[in-house]
Amino acid sequence: MVEHDAFSAAREAYDAAAPAYAHLFRDSLRDSPLDRAILDVFAEVVGVSGNDQVADLGCGPGHVTAHLDGLGLAAFGVDASPAMIELARQDHPGLRFDVGSMAALDIADGVLGGVLSRWSVIHTPPQEIPVIFGEFHRVLAPGGHLLICFSATDDPSHLTQAFDHAVALAYRWSPDHLATMLRTSGLTEVARMVRAPQPTDHRQFQEVQLLARKA
Ligand SMILES: C[S@@+](CC[C@H](N)C(=O)[O-])C[C@H]1O[C@@H](n2cnc3c(N)ncnc32)[C@H](O)[C@@H]1O
Repeated sequence: MVEHDAFSAAREAYDAAAPAYAHLFRDSLRDSPLDRAILDVFAEVVGVSGNDQVADLGCGPGHVTAHLDGLGLAAFGVDASPAMIELARQDHPGLRFDVGSMAALDIADGVLGGVLSRWSVIHTPPQEIPVIFGEFHRVLAPGGHLLICFSATDDPSHLTQAFDHAVALAYRWSPDHLATMLRTSGLTEVARMVRAPQPTDHRQFQEVQLLARKA
């Protein structure tokens, strides 16, 4: 029941915010060489694995799904918010976008070379995260990669911290703790990129992009 409440709250909040979110972020990769660089790395490691099927989970308006498509991957998007999926379909009519929940993916076992979760687990209460990481592990093929993005706690003694995100209640994570939870789900850290806080850019906390691999 708690899971349903948090999921519904995030979905309703993103339905309401979808046009404004898309307006703010659909061109954001253009001005972010670090984001493009880590997506390049992700696309390359997925590509060399020989399985280019990639799900962008919590894809929002689909701009990153389209970027991955442009990097040569067979990318599709899934999001809880029907309004986000509608915008993604309008912006990128050649790509596939589905409404769905990361906690119960309509994707067969072991079929994906890559999973991207970019700022999409931040609204999930920490006690519900193992179900979602279990789904990431289930849908990845052996050797498949996960790229997950989140904000770090500002004190290493805090494993998680709730914060007042502009759209819906969200959580920051200790990067080491999140990496441990991934490992518990069968996903081993390969690398991480940590961006220092950028107060002039309204980024008050470290941003973490963590690459992990299924054995
Ligand atoms: C901060 S936005 C990130 C959008 C996009 N990935 C990006 O990088 O701009 C978070 C997105 O995750 C979606 N989301 C949150 N929880 C979800 C869940 N449990 N299952 C599917 N989508 C979810 C929201 O609807 C929202 O579109």
